[in-house]
Amino acid sequence: MKIDSEGFESLLKKYQLRAEKTLNQWLPDEQVNPVELHQAMRYSVLAPGKRVRPILVYATASTLGLGLQLVDGIAAAVEIIHAYSLIHDDLPAMDNDDLRRGRPTCHRKFDEATAILAGDALQALAFYILSHDDNMTHSSKARLKMIEKLSLFSGSRGMAGGQAIDLESVGKTLNIAELETMHIHKTGALIRTCIQLSALSSKQLGADQLRALDTYAKCVGLSFQVQDDILDVVGDTSTLGKPQGSDIERNKPTFPSVIGLDASREKARELHHKALDALSIFGEEAEILRYISAWFVERTH
Ligand code: IPE
Ligand code: IPE
Ligand code: MG
Ligand code: MG
Ligand code: MG
Repeated sequence: MKIDSEGFESLLKKYQLRAEKTLNQWLPDEQVNPVELHQAMRYSVLAPGKRVRPILVYATASTLGLGLQLVDGIAAAVEIIHAYSLIHDDLPAMDNDDLRRGRPTCHRKFDEATAILAGDALQALAFYILSHDDNMTHSSKARLKMIEKLSLFSGSRGMAGGQAIDLESVGKTLNIAELETMHIHKTGALIRTCIQLSALSSKQLGADQLRALDTYAKCVGLSFQVQDDILDVVGDTSTLGKPQGSDIERNKPTFPSVIGLDASREKARELHHKALDALSIFGEEAEILRYISAWFVERTH
């Protein structure tokens, strides 16, 4: 599909709205007991996030010519894991932040115990969706593979493991390889999952296409966190919707703190170009993925 930047913006909007509609349907009603827990889950998931992970799921499906209803459950599951990771990331025991998506963080709006439980319950809900969604007409084998991948990439060898490295690294000087390892786990792993799960929905995917998409996913997964680190330095709190300077205040090793701002920007650009190279085996059908890679390194929030 040939798209221009306006077309890209409208696709983003379409995917965001689609993801939000699906999330709304899967989240328990807040009238249902335990009311406060359900309110906290809905509060955090439905707060205005960019929906980057569902967008990657839908964009991969579109590149592969798949119907979007086939991947709605995947889009919701990855965004729900992400929302849980943000709730826990903001807790006093972790980054201790008060603002998320322009609103008080979950533990600020509710309380710490509710925020911990909301994260726990959201994690379980993600796997419920993957095992239960009737619109996913995948074989049981494919569904099981998706559950396996999401659990692996969000657990101690993926996102949660990356968060552990992040906490261990406070106040330390990491080298670039160690910093990349941390980022690849805490942020890259879930982004990689989005693309892999969507790709697993295709029955005709060749090994070379799968490899190309995975290389792309690894590049944009890292570039996304490099830009997140850059924005902690150069962004502003109202645009970010989260506190600028949180990493600096907590003495976190980040790309700007380890290699400087200019080299970090260069690193992000380099990853963007590697992501584009990986897509060279695809034609216009992958244009949306190319735009997404550019967006990740140009974004201001
Ligand atoms: C923030 O993710 C946490 C990171 C992994 C960098 P996003 O920048 O995708 O946050 P939302 O979902 O738009 O709020
Ligand atoms: C968070 O990294 C990665 C997660 C797994 C949530 P950050 O701590 O840098 O994310 P922000 O900046 O608070 O969104
Ligand atoms: Mg953190
Ligand atoms: Mg944080
Ligand atoms: Mg950050």
